Amino acid sequence: AKITYIEHTGKAYVIDVKPGQSVMEGAVKNNIPGIDADCGGACACATCHVYVDPAWSERTGAASVMEESMLDFANDLQPTSRLSCQIIVSDVLDGLVVRMPENQH
Ligand code: FES
Repeated sequence: AKITYIEHTGKAYVIDVKPGQSVMEGAVKNNIPGIDADCGGACACATCHVYVDPAWSERTGAASVMEESMLDFANDLQPTSRLSCQIIVSDVLDGLVVRMPENQH
């Protein structure tokens, strides 16, 4: 599925991410800046924070209780804030757009 990652500067990267990988993994494997993912996807660091494009937030679903509580540690929360390691790519998400915050701490 094609995922568009947009840096806080506006620079965009379109990456083909395999279904079953997380949005975070797609970024890290392709050296996209702006997603640190210190915990490696365990929902335990909040440094993979992204803003899901509002047009997509219904399809990415809601954050779990555990994710919500980790998100409290992220900076500059917005209504569509998510931890990108908790968004698993599938064909339904082909075309997904996420934006990275200015920094992860
Ligand atoms: Fe640590 Fe997502 S990579 S919470």
